[in-house]
Amino acid sequence: MTFSVLSIKKLNKSFQRDDKTLTVLDGINLDIQQGEFISIVGSSGCGKSTLLRLIAGLDQDYQGEILLNKTPIREPDLKRGLIFQEHRLLPWLNITENIGLALEETAFTQNEKQSLIQEHINIVGLQGFEKSYPHQLSGGMAQRVAIARGLVNKPDILLLDEPFGALDAMTRGHLQVELQRIWQHEKITMILVTHDIEEAVYLGDRVIIMSARPGKIKNIIDIPITHPRQRSSDALFKLRNQALNQLDHI
Ligand SMILES: Nc1ncnc2c1ncn2[C@@H]1O[C@H](COP(=O)(O)OP(=O)(O)O)[C@@H](O)[C@H]1O
Ligand SMILES: [Mg+2]
Repeated sequence: MTFSVLSIKKLNKSFQRDDKTLTVLDGINLDIQQGEFISIVGSSGCGKSTLLRLIAGLDQDYQGEILLNKTPIREPDLKRGLIFQEHRLLPWLNITENIGLALEETAFTQNEKQSLIQEHINIVGLQGFEKSYPHQLSGGMAQRVAIARGLVNKPDILLLDEPFGALDAMTRGHLQVELQRIWQHEKITMILVTHDIEEAVYLGDRVIIMSARPGKIKNIIDIPITHPRQRSSDALFKLRNQALNQLDHI
């Protein structure tokens, strides 16, 4: 049986700028099921990162409700992993140590930590690079480390804010396939923010289309195609065009 792991009700968010109030999110309602892959697309500035930061608990100044497993989100915690466009690895720590940072506040024993780290290095396909430092990795490899760090403490949700936005098209394509495989393997709920409609449709069970000023959910498109998906399938192509049409009218 599925249940809503995340439930957002009547969410409003505004920023105070000079004397003006800037409403960034307006009446967002969204229920996300356990294990779902949700893509959120919208043009730059429509409030995607703001929404993700609120879900992460990085910003507690909002109106409405954000419930994770029926409990209001009050602060950042390890139940929600976060991945950004930049990998945010510490340059003076090697890969093993960087991933281990996400386990510092946990109750795992030293042995459990070591085996969790190795398991996740394997999941993202970086065996052999355990002792490498971030500057010795390509952009795509560094982003794999960030994914491993985001997953290693077994969060309920992984939040990804344009994680492949800074990578070249080829690497981005590879990592999209990898992310799909990892999602299937971990059976974890993922929320991916992107401005790449193809990426959103390829990966998402549902694609949330946002409009801007103020940010609202304009439409939700179901992508009822089983994973792993073929990028070139006709069905996916049709759904991508449907989503593109929606975006054009924002
Ligand atoms: N801390 C802040 N203070 C004031 N305005 C902000 C702040 N963060 C974001 N904004 C504004 O909120 C809007 C949405 O930003 P953001 O969520 O980053 O959009 P997106 O991620 O979709 O590009 C933008 O107009 C941005 O300028
Ligand atoms: Mg953003």
